[in-house]
Amino acid sequence: MRTTRRALTAVVSAAALLVAAACSTTEDDPATSTVEVFTWWAEGGEKDGLDALVARFGTGCPGQSFENGVVAGGAGITAKQVLADRLRQGDPPDTFQVHAGAELLDHIDSGQVADLSAEFDAWGLRTALPAGLIETLTVNGRVWSVPAGVHRANVVWANERVLAAAGIRTVPANLDEFVRDLETLRGSGVESPLALGRDWTQLMLLEAVLISGLGPERFTGLFTGETRWDSAPVTAAIGDYARVITFSNTDRNSLDWPQAQRLLVDGTAGYQLMGDWMAADLAAGFDTFAFPGNGTAFQWLADSFALTSAAANPEGARCWLRTVASPEGQREFNARKGSIPARTDTATTGFTDYQVEAAKDWRSGVPVPSCAHGSACSQPWQNAANAAVAAFSVSGDRISLQAALTAAAKQFIRQQ
Ligand code: GAL
Repeated sequence: MRTTRRALTAVVSAAALLVAAACSTTEDDPATSTVEVFTWWAEGGEKDGLDALVARFGTGCPGQSFENGVVAGGAGITAKQVLADRLRQGDPPDTFQVHAGAELLDHIDSGQVADLSAEFDAWGLRTALPAGLIETLTVNGRVWSVPAGVHRANVVWANERVLAAAGIRTVPANLDEFVRDLETLRGSGVESPLALGRDWTQLMLLEAVLISGLGPERFTGLFTGETRWDSAPVTAAIGDYARVITFSNTDRNSLDWPQAQRLLVDGTAGYQLMGDWMAADLAAGFDTFAFPGNGTAFQWLADSFALTSAAANPEGARCWLRTVASPEGQREFNARKGSIPARTDTATTGFTDYQVEAAKDWRSGVPVPSCAHGSACSQPWQNAANAAVAAFSVSGDRISLQAALTAAAKQFIRQQ
């Protein structure tokens, strides 16, 4: 384990280190040849995507070896806490997964990540990435992470067999029709027709309902201060959200997204709202559509990698970042991950029909950021929003939910 090794290194005397170096000249020196890459991609399509990058890193970065600093848990719910502790304790990985956008702000403020502006220029990323994404990655005039791919969050996945058995043959055009279909499913014996998981997956659902209620522009304004969280449209959307989650499984707070996905796959549920990392895991028999009422809103998030400012092996980490940024790395990673390349010049060979459609929607849709996945809000804000929806899941108290979300916005809003 990296942590243990580094902790040990700190207490071993300089003399002992010299002896060790003299005695084992052939042994790998972790400080110079190992790159610890910290992610939350531990299984399924997420791991497949990571493995594709690791293979390319292996051939493109001779003399460097990959060290897997993975901490499981969807959306990095556990990994981000572990990372924060390690950064605070001066035990950083060399590079870590982070969402492009506001999620990076606190790391930048605390000087934990290195400026990658020169690498962006040298690697031609200023022309290869969409201008809007570069703008999101730029804080104080500098770029702080390298994007690997773009996911869409506001997607509903439907089990065609379950829907057909209940006589549902059309895609719901709005929230009322969606609720009508959920009622039909329940009437046909599907007790919990909407598969749902813990806090962050509930925040995703609330955000999708808010997009339907407020529209993309006013929704985005919730994170810039232009839209008030204590306004009547938000109250109405929270009412809709409360109605929708009555159709979900009651054990939701104890499930991560793959377990909720299992409810969809085995037919216990008919629908699940989840980002399109699902595309990497679902075979035929599942339909997808944008959350009812979201129109052409493309709620985006971009996985990216940052270089820690105290990295033990910055050169190796730069080679990892270069791999992530390369057209081949992006093609191989995204083909397996279900996402689309952040670069606009990457071949789509090996991509599914879903991904080809998603790439088109990304070009033509209305981009909307996500708080659950860090493009819209900072990490402390996201933590507060996750806590608010998790509490609501137990209490059902709408007034407290709106008050908690209003308070979080007030506390954490900043010029982003
Ligand atoms: C997101 C991340 C995706 C996927 C998902 C589920 O936050 O951006 O790449 O990993 O979590 O774990």
